[in-house]
Amino acid sequence: MNITYQITPNLSIEAFLDILNRSTLGERRPIDDLECVESMIKNADIIVTAVLDEKIVGVARAVTDFSYCCYLSDLAVDVSFQSQGIGKKLIQSVREQLKAKCKIILLSAPAAVEYYPKIGFTQHPSAWVLDSTKEIL
Ligand SMILES: CC(C)(COP(=O)(O)OP(=O)(O)OC[C@H]1O[C@@H](n2cnc3c(N)ncnc32)[C@H](O)[C@@H]1OP(=O)(O)O)[C@@H](O)C(=O)NCCC(=O)NCCS
Repeated sequence: MNITYQITPNLSIEAFLDILNRSTLGERRPIDDLECVESMIKNADIIVTAVLDEKIVGVARAVTDFSYCCYLSDLAVDVSFQSQGIGKKLIQSVREQLKAKCKIILLSAPAAVEYYPKIGFTQHPSAWVLDSTKEIL
């Protein structure tokens, strides 16, 4: 399969939603809030798509300072193309945009908790999230 990995800063909202839905990740992303989705694309620092015959079969979207930390927010591969190495190559393509010492950080979807250790990620014992609905005490 001749899949190419393309930096795609101007990914359309429709194309982003389409690959999120075809991967199942759409179930865990605010796909009905188009203003949010538009902002996710516009303000992302790295968007890489995996493209086969002009069809997007995977996407990675990251927010980063390029030097110290990179938050890999969304990694999604079309269900028909999963487990063929596309996810790994998308992460590698994101990494190629980063300086050598930059760490990749992410929150796994429940369906992917076994995936990240398999490809070399280590689980961080002190990762913390402040939900948008929670007060800072
Ligand atoms: C998770 C996901 C991005 C992985 O991408 P992928 O292209 O399918 O995975 P890769 O081909 O890079 O997989 C590498 C290895 O991990 C395995 N793997 C893939 N998905 C896995 C999963 N969810 N759990 C455990 N192992 C998984 C593959 O079988 C492969 O194993 P092998 O090397 O022994 O053959 C993709 O399956 C996906 O989009 N899933 C649904 C959405 C999702 O959960 N995204 C993650 C958001 S944090």
